[in-house]
Amino acid sequence: MVQRSYQVMVDEQKKGMVPVVKGDLTGKTVVITGANSGIGYEAAKHFATMNTGRLIIVCRSLEKARGAIKQIEAETGYKNAEPMALDLSDFSSISTFATQANKTLDRLDILVENAGVAKTGQYFVTNDGWEEMFQVNGLGTTMHAILLLPVIFKTAKEHSVAPRIVVVSSEIIFSANIGPDALAASNTLEMLSSKEYCTPDRYALSKLFNVFLVHKLAALLPKNIIPVSLNPGFCLSGLRRHASGALAEQYDKMDAEFAYTSEEGSRQIVYAAIGGTDEEVRGAFTSYSQVLGVPDWILSEDGKKAQDKTWDEMLELFSKLDNRIPSIIADYLKA
Ligand SMILES: NC(=O)c1ccc[n+]([C@@H]2O[C@H](COP(=O)([O-])OP(=O)(O)OC[C@H]3O[C@@H](n4cnc5c(N)ncnc54)[C@H](OP(=O)(O)O)[C@@H]3O)[C@@H](O)[C@H]2O)c1
Repeated sequence: MVQRSYQVMVDEQKKGMVPVVKGDLTGKTVVITGANSGIGYEAAKHFATMNTGRLIIVCRSLEKARGAIKQIEAETGYKNAEPMALDLSDFSSISTFATQANKTLDRLDILVENAGVAKTGQYFVTNDGWEEMFQVNGLGTTMHAILLLPVIFKTAKEHSVAPRIVVVSSEIIFSANIGPDALAASNTLEMLSSKEYCTPDRYALSKLFNVFLVHKLAALLPKNIIPVSLNPGFCLSGLRRHASGALAEQYDKMDAEFAYTSEEGSRQIVYAAIGGTDEEVRGAFTSYSQVLGVPDWILSEDGKKAQDKTWDEMLELFSKLDNRIPSIIADYLKA
């Protein structure tokens, strides 16, 4: 049984972050989303020091991506970073990204799904009609990873390598679950995204879907593709900038008492991308550079049902949004 009380988290934070794993990514292609800020930016900088063949810096706009690349070049001397734009709150942007990626990427060795948003206690609806955190962190991240499976498979086959799909989740999943009412709903995703159902823990729920994604990919993909989810720890970054009032004050105290820097948190992305053995980390939730079990609820009957039901609903939704999805499901997502 894996227990993660608040005190366990605080004690672990205070112990200090483990060192970064070093590697050589010569000839390999890394794609990292949310790479202009926080732990994504710092992880991109680590990859930039590993002779990475191509490093694709994915941000909400090309302008932001170009700015990040300039800074990475200045700080590391790395010259092979390329910009791409992606807005996960807009399904059509995810489809456009996949079209461009299929044209421009001849291989994809490490996909880092890092981008995320936290607007705890607030309710915003995207133009696609979903609660924002739910779409960006959950639905959008899942659709993005699925649309990149063809190039990931091609890489594994043509280069006899084991590509990794790294999904940045959070320790906060230990306080999240999906209740029986939402599980019994005719459409669980729609119920979870609705204003009536939204509670301040919406962010936690959205990060649960990152672990669901990795579990599903591990169950359905061949053994030479390595999905991993991770907890970066509680880090200083832009993530909590939308908080106000008592919540912002609470975050300020936590930041002062035990937050890691973004660079320290980014070491957990690097670990999930190149650390451990493929067998060890495949399908796992990692934390502090080791495999941590997932919350008991995820492994319970309700947890399994939630993963199956929401996965099926997502595939149905994505199939309506992008006509490549049905053939990806048929060709790649089979146990
Ligand atoms: N910091 C922590 O304590 C902590 C703990 C656990 C997990 N995490 C996770 O770590 C990941 C990185 O967060 P961070 O802490 O580094 O925060 P951050 O500094 O705010 O970085 C988040 C990144 O995601 C991008 N992003 C936000 N909305 C997006 C959208 N709609 N489409 C595409 N990209 C979008 C942001 O772009 P903009 O700059 O344009 O907004 C930014 O590049 C997130 O998945 C977060 O949930 C963080």
